[in-house]
Amino acid sequence: MRLRSFFFSSIFSLSRSPSPSPSLPSSRFSSSLSPAMSPAPEKSRQGNGECNDDLKSKVTVVGSGNWGSVAAKLIASNALKLPSFHDEVRMWVFEEVLPNGEKLTDVINKTNENVKYLPGIKLGRNVVADPDLLNAVKEANMLVFITPHQFMDGICKKLDGKITGDVEAISLVKGMEVKKEGPCMISSLISKQLGINCCVLMGANIANEIAVEKFSEATVGYRESREIADTWVQLFSTPYFMVTPVQDVEGVELCGTLKNVVAIAAGFVDGLEMGNNTKAAIMRIGLREMKALSKLLFPSVKDSTFFESCGVADVITTCLGGRNRRVAEAFAKSGGKRSFDELEAEMLQGQKLQGVSTAREVYEVLNHCGWVETFPLFSTVHQICTGRLQPEAFVHYREHKA
Ligand SMILES: NC(=O)c1ccc[n+]([C@@H]2O[C@H](COP(=O)([O-])OP(=O)(O)OC[C@H]3O[C@@H](n4cnc5c(N)ncnc54)[C@H](O)[C@@H]3O)[C@@H](O)[C@H]2O)c1
Repeated sequence: MRLRSFFFSSIFSLSRSPSPSPSLPSSRFSSSLSPAMSPAPEKSRQGNGECNDDLKSKVTVVGSGNWGSVAAKLIASNALKLPSFHDEVRMWVFEEVLPNGEKLTDVINKTNENVKYLPGIKLGRNVVADPDLLNAVKEANMLVFITPHQFMDGICKKLDGKITGDVEAISLVKGMEVKKEGPCMISSLISKQLGINCCVLMGANIANEIAVEKFSEATVGYRESREIADTWVQLFSTPYFMVTPVQDVEGVELCGTLKNVVAIAAGFVDGLEMGNNTKAAIMRIGLREMKALSKLLFPSVKDSTFFESCGVADVITTCLGGRNRRVAEAFAKSGGKRSFDELEAEMLQGQKLQGVSTAREVYEVLNHCGWVETFPLFSTVHQICTGRLQPEAFVHYREHKA
C-alpha cells in the first residue's frame, strides 16, 4: 500500500502544474497553511507550534450518507494531524431508527461506524454524530455540505440566518435546483441563502473505494480566494486522495452534476447488453453535451476543467461503476416496466439516486431555453426515465452537430 501511494504521489506531483505559494495568512483559515498537496504532518502534542485554540478551525460535515461518511473519515484523520484544526469533527445525521430500534446517531457515537451507510469502516474517534442540525453547525467555521441534492433547499432554509461570523463552506453535493429564473447550482444556493462563500469538491470518487483507501483524485473548484481553496485541499488530501484546486466553481460543479445523467445512459447500454463501443460512444457524447451545456449556462466555464478529475475521470468511473449506472441497468433489463423509485428503494437501501432527478432538472432547463434538440442525449435520457420512450431509444437519436 505504501509503495502504491508513493507511486501515485510521484506521478501526480510530476503531472500537476506549479501552484502559486499560498499568500500570508489573513484569517484563521490560513493560519498554518503548508503548500497544497503535501500530506498533513503530525500534529504536535507538546504545544510547540500549536495554534491558539480560538484561532483553530472547526469543521462540521452536514450529511452522513455513503459519501458523507467517507468525507468525515478523510477530514477527521487530517484534523487530528493539522495544528490549525480542532480535533473534533461534527457530523450532522438525519436521524433514523434502525431495525433493532436503536437510533443511528447513538450507534455511530458508540461504534464509530455508520452501520447503515458505510458499514465496516471506522470513521475516526474524533467524529461526533449530532442529529440536531443547528447544534451541529453552531461552533463551526468550516461547513462541508454533502447530502443528496433534493434535501439541500430544506437544509439551507433551516440554516437561514443562523450562520454568522467568518464561515466558509464547500459543497460535495452533485445536483442542481431549478428555479423559475433558471438553474441554481447548489454552491450558489448555499452562498445566497447563508451569505457565505462556497467552494465545491467533485471528482471520480466512488465512496466505497475511497473508504478502503484506494487511490483516487478530486477537484476543488473555487471562485476567488486561492488561500481558501488551499485550506480545503489540505483538509481533504491524503496520500490516497489527491486534490487539485481549479478556479472554476461552475465548471467543476456542472461536471459533477451532469455526469449523473450520462451514467444513466451508460446503465441503459449495460441493461441492453450493447457492449463497450456503445458505452464509449455514450461517454464521449455525454462529455460533449456536458461541456456544451456548461458553457451555455456559464460562459466563464473553462475547457481545461473537463480534463480534471471532476470531468472526464468522473464520467468514466460513473459509467463503469456507481449506483446510477447500476439502477439504470436494472431499469433497462425490465424493459422500462419497473419504475426507478421502486428500483432505488429495492437496490440502494436508503441511498439516493441523483441521475434521474438531475435528468428531469436538466430537461426543464433545456425546454425553458429551447435547447432540447441541441442536447439529444440529455433529453432522451429524461424521456426514457419518464416512460415516454423505450430504453433502446437513446441510440436512435442523431447527435446535434451544429
Ligand atoms: N456515494 C458516492 O459514491 C458519492 C460519490 C461522490 C458524490 N456523491 C454525492 O454526494 C451527495 C451525498 O450522497 P451520499 O452518498 O453521501 O448519500 P446517500 O445517498 O448514501 O444517503 C442518503 C442520505 O440522505 C439522508 N436523508 C434521507 N432523507 C433525508 C431528508 N429528508 N433530509 C435530509 N437528509 C435525508 C440519509 O439519512 C442519508 O444520509 C450526493 O449529491 C451524491 O451525488 C456520492
